[in-house]
Amino acid sequence: MNRHSLESSLKRSLAITVEDIHELVGNFHHDMKAGLGGKLSSLKMLPTFVDKPSGKEKGSFLALDFGGTNFRVLHVNLDGRGSARITHADKFVIPKAVMHGTGVQLFNFIAGSIRKFIEENLIGFEDKRKLGFTFSFPMKQTTVASGTLINWTKGFSATGVVGRDVVIRLKDSLKRCGLHHIDVAALANDTVGTMAAGSYKHPDCDVGIIFGTGTNACYREKRANITKLAKTMQRSGHMVINIEWGNFDKLPFTLYDERLDKSTNNPGRQRMEKMISGMYLGEVARLILSDLMRNKFIFAKSGGRFSKGDFKSRHMSMIEADRSRNLTKVKEYLEGVGILNTSLEERCLLKEICMMVSQRAARISAAAISAVISWMDPQLGSDHTIAIDGTLYEKYPDFRKTILATLKEIYGVKSKRLKLVIAKEGSGIGVAIVAAVAASQR
Ligand code: GLC
Repeated sequence: MNRHSLESSLKRSLAITVEDIHELVGNFHHDMKAGLGGKLSSLKMLPTFVDKPSGKEKGSFLALDFGGTNFRVLHVNLDGRGSARITHADKFVIPKAVMHGTGVQLFNFIAGSIRKFIEENLIGFEDKRKLGFTFSFPMKQTTVASGTLINWTKGFSATGVVGRDVVIRLKDSLKRCGLHHIDVAALANDTVGTMAAGSYKHPDCDVGIIFGTGTNACYREKRANITKLAKTMQRSGHMVINIEWGNFDKLPFTLYDERLDKSTNNPGRQRMEKMISGMYLGEVARLILSDLMRNKFIFAKSGGRFSKGDFKSRHMSMIEADRSRNLTKVKEYLEGVGILNTSLEERCLLKEICMMVSQRAARISAAAISAVISWMDPQLGSDHTIAIDGTLYEKYPDFRKTILATLKEIYGVKSKRLKLVIAKEGSGIGVAIVAAVAASQR
């Protein structure tokens, strides 16, 4: 096989065609319906017990934004006129041992960090403080201020948390740290926070999405459609639904996707996330690359190899951002990892592989967005603002552009009705807004 036939066969297996998109949307709707009805489905469709804010919520709140190896503690002021301001923010890194240790260690570490934040920023221990807790994992909620973890995602494995109420866990640890004055007023997934932040500013915002380490979305659903809710809850009005779309599993998988899935600590789960999100993109590309290297189609004379986890999404991002004629940055990077004397043609092929993988991710993302929109509004009769947070969307070269172009392919000129806005810090700010909504509901 020569380079051209190789490239075209890879392109074919990684392409997401218009037919694939239609099929995906149909299957997505099927799983949405099953999930809302409490039937077996790859989409959990989790009720959140909160609707979107009015924009008039006011006050100051603490926010804990936890969903990856870093977490943030923030202090947020809401002015009641659609503007939210972070007055203090600190980032904490979770040590590996804590990430995979016990739940008690994890929550004690978080509570200890909140104490540090309060002391360092002179926030005080006297007045009661309301805290919004963003917990970016699938959880079963029965109220806006409680929820049990269904399963860990994104490589987490702390013991004794699955099946437990994470708010109780947090409260216990806060008390252990002497933080009796903190009231955990709301618990929300990061997508829900992102949508709250988006709709605080844009009244027509009805979808929140994360494209980061993981990927997921939430949207505003009519309560009457959430048939798994108790009859008394299915009255008029709306509720935000956390789709947990990362777990969607009806997709055109390649053998690389199958290999990657088997190598993770949650095989069979988060199949769409494993094709889209920052945690996995690098590994998909690495598996393709390793295959080509083994068959001597690329870097045959250069030495070096990529082992599992060596090639990250940030490397892909850097490679795609290199627009120099000689791909100088790519060359430097390869030399840095011991792959020497590469030809320009090989570097172009490497870049091409990255592009195929990231564009497939962006096209699947656009298909999933259109599935959610067409579920809510089949004829696309209204405007929708979609609030998005996450580095992949903000920083990855052309990721956003490909999503927009694919939406245009799906909807034609009508795609103008979809406004995709970046809700920077959405998950942190948003949970403060959710806490305010919860306080007003009490
Ligand atoms: C994973 C989590 C989900 C979260 C997403 C983005 O998919 O399961 O709850 O929203 O990552 O952080």
